[in-house]
Amino acid sequence: MELLRVSAARGASRWQRLAVRPSNGTCRRCIRSQVAARRQFATTRPALEKPYYVTTPIFYVNAAPHVGHMYSMVLADVLKRWQTLTGRTALLCTGTDEHGIKVQRAAALEEVPPKQFCDDNAAKFEHLAEKALIDHDRFIRTTDEDHIAAVEYFWFLLREKGLIYESKHAGWYCVSDECFYPEAMIEKKQDPFTGQVFLASTETGNKVEWIEERNYHFRMTALKDKLLDFYAKNPDWIVPVSRMNEVVDWVQNHLVDLSISRPVDRLSWGIRVPGDHTQTIYVWVDALINYLTMAGFPNWTPGKEQDGGWPADVHVIGKDILRFHCVYWPALLLALDLPLPQRVLSHAHWTMDRRKMSKSLGNVVNPLFAIDRWGVDAMRFYMIYNGGIVEDSDYNNDTLLGGYKKLLQGGLGNLTNRIIRSKKWSVKEAITFVRGRGSLQDDVKGDKIMSNQVALLQSLGPKANEEMAVPNPSAALHRIMEVMTKANFLVSEKKPWELANEPSNPDKVMALNYSLYLAMETLRIVGILLQPFMPSKAAELLDILGVSEDKRTFQHAQVGADFDFGAPFLEEGKSAWETLFPPVLALN
Ligand code: MSP
Repeated sequence: MELLRVSAARGASRWQRLAVRPSNGTCRRCIRSQVAARRQFATTRPALEKPYYVTTPIFYVNAAPHVGHMYSMVLADVLKRWQTLTGRTALLCTGTDEHGIKVQRAAALEEVPPKQFCDDNAAKFEHLAEKALIDHDRFIRTTDEDHIAAVEYFWFLLREKGLIYESKHAGWYCVSDECFYPEAMIEKKQDPFTGQVFLASTETGNKVEWIEERNYHFRMTALKDKLLDFYAKNPDWIVPVSRMNEVVDWVQNHLVDLSISRPVDRLSWGIRVPGDHTQTIYVWVDALINYLTMAGFPNWTPGKEQDGGWPADVHVIGKDILRFHCVYWPALLLALDLPLPQRVLSHAHWTMDRRKMSKSLGNVVNPLFAIDRWGVDAMRFYMIYNGGIVEDSDYNNDTLLGGYKKLLQGGLGNLTNRIIRSKKWSVKEAITFVRGRGSLQDDVKGDKIMSNQVALLQSLGPKANEEMAVPNPSAALHRIMEVMTKANFLVSEKKPWELANEPSNPDKVMALNYSLYLAMETLRIVGILLQPFMPSKAAELLDILGVSEDKRTFQHAQVGADFDFGAPFLEEGKSAWETLFPPVLALN
């Protein structure tokens, strides 16, 4: 990479004047491009035209994937798919975090060269993304060449702004968490199995070791006021808002300059500091920049800086990595006058018997096995329906199976089955009947159950959309399933199988047709809205209902938006029960 040197004294806000492009050498056109980029970012104009951009954390490759990782992935995927459903171009990035002491040690332990170790383990996460139906636009790896170039360039810009200095660093380092902890956050612990006493982080309980070394520091304290100002102006930047307090507290009371490199003799597996090959860039700085790499940083075309998605609309993260994303990351971005992500969704953890899943405790659930056992849609459904944002959720096969039986098999599957399968009526005729009358509201006015269902269906799309904007996918999913449950109630109350016995009674015919229509309309709208949550089962359901491919958008999830469905794209004689949610084995 060719680096043009400018005096840092020339001012911190001039990075955009540099005609520099990593790997590609000097590029004059970038001067204009970056000035334009800077100007655009200086405005408060919301990024309306850009693609929606959502990210997952990138996963450490030192251990195999578990359901906690799958949860981050599925949350991000549901957010992306929801945007696509509403017609917006959306991007999703997931991937692996491959550098750092933790991975270096894990590779050494297996006596495998680090790159090979990373290749093998990154493949496991990529496989999980496929099996979990994650619609990602890139599986990024921090060993990717364009990422390395982006990190080097980022470093260079920080240095040119005078925000990096070299000094001695002494402190408690936790390899497992890949960070230093202040003295006040260290405590003595005893290993319950070996009885061994060790020093650990009060936050994570992971072992720390005393380190003294020379390294580079990022002048994070210089950003303190800007950070606090940003939090004050954006109180709902972190979801849930309750986590904002701990972030503000950290910045107010614990902010210190960040050590951002390690001597090569301690950490060789990483990106070298540009211009100083005795030091390796700190893994968290390296990792966080992946979000920019995906968005094309720093090769942004003038006027199209946001085409790659930056600033991200949502970073999905677990609550354990809040500080990195809500303090270090905005500080680094503010340092370069880059726009900050619009929101951070920090979810709670999956536990096993109320203890956090961890490799060392051996209580992790393998998501690949779980997907094979329950099916990918049922797993995704369970994770979103039962997964926590504020509170941790205990992973439990009985709960999973209970939800499957009650909501999917007995709820959605049963509703589909009882309406579609009966030989006593034709749903197509019921839809045609309602279409012909053209007065749904008036016709159901006198019937509380039916008019309630119409009202619920009319507000379902907008309300689910509001929840997704929070973002709160679990609340959106609960709403969708409630409306489905109400339709089952409607069918039980109206008893179409009895109404169908009186074809010469106009009132009964009317009631029959409206009951069937509302059940079908519920299934159609619910089916459309479930696509982001259960992509393959929702598609199957819409096939069963005969909803054409081009009428499966959010705009079609409205009462009366489609009257052309009702003839299943289904093999004759095959029941919805068999196809949609078959019985599963309850082994425990
Ligand atoms: N490599 C860092 C992230 C860098 S992002 C720039 C990392 N990796 S991780 O593999 O340890 O964790 C990845 C994600 O999985 C985190 O969001 C973490 O919160 C999540 N989970 C890990 N265990 C979890 C549970 N038991 N439950 C839910 N999610 C948890 O941190």
